[in-house]
Amino acid sequence: MDDFQKIVDLEQRLALLEDELMRAQRLSSVGALASSITHEFNNILTTVINYARMGLRHTDEKSRTKSFDRILSAGQRAAQITTGMLAYARNTSDRVEPADLKRLLDDVLVLVQKDLQMHRISVDLMAPSPVWALVNASQIQQILMNLIVNARQAMKEAGRLRLIVRDNTSDGWAEIVVSDTGCGIPHDKLPHIFDKFYTTKTPDARGQGGTGLGLSLCLRIVEAHQGRIRVESETGKGTTFTLKLPRSESPAGFIDTSAA
Ligand SMILES: Nc1ncnc2c1ncn2[C@@H]1O[C@H](COP(=O)(O)OP(=O)(O)O)[C@@H](O)[C@H]1O
Ligand SMILES: [Mg+2]
Repeated sequence: MDDFQKIVDLEQRLALLEDELMRAQRLSSVGALASSITHEFNNILTTVINYARMGLRHTDEKSRTKSFDRILSAGQRAAQITTGMLAYARNTSDRVEPADLKRLLDDVLVLVQKDLQMHRISVDLMAPSPVWALVNASQIQQILMNLIVNARQAMKEAGRLRLIVRDNTSDGWAEIVVSDTGCGIPHDKLPHIFDKFYTTKTPDARGQGGTGLGLSLCLRIVEAHQGRIRVESETGKGTTFTLKLPRSESPAGFIDTSAA
């Protein structure tokens, strides 16, 4: 094998390993939500058990119907979370097609909601209408998950997470803004945050620290989309990430019902 062939081989192996890394990071970001999701399931089970007991105790139709209604909606909530988790963890399709960024964000919010709630973080979501972009949906969700989990970790307790989805028709970008009121990033550290393995998070009591892979993969995904990612931060005030992706027209046959 000549040197040129060796380099081609190595480059192919590197690309494969980077894909593997992306998949592993996707799973580890779900790990960061494990404790909040377990909590939520416990609450759901408590609801199911209590209403099942109530339905058994009170045999009149009104009480039974009420019990079944509550059990049904608790079950549906649980199904929404497990479906979302499985879709997020498994979806590794490499299709690039028009997707509504608002919907992608909503699906990620289902998974992180409880984590935000447990840390008393309020969420401002500004997404007036669907915003279409030409993207690989599962990769964009991975970016959103990473940015939101980072924002939450930077805020610790009682912060405000602002999320904006907007169509910037004038310069051809579909944009998502993720903004937090957390600790911020010192100016001299900003140039490093997208580096592989750069992390300031030390392992906590459960041994969960940072891997320093989240933002490096975000950058890799953004570059593959020929998009941009910008960060502004002020120590003690907070951080804002702006994601710019190639916008697309809404697909033929799509009817916007969001304003109705
Ligand atoms: N929203 C944020 N607020 C403050 N610091 C941040 C934020 N997002 C990222 N950082 C900094 O960038 C570093 C790298 O982030 P990331 O690549 O996601 O790795 P990890 O989260 O595993 O540490 C973090 O350790 C943190 O220091
Ligand atoms: Mg991270």
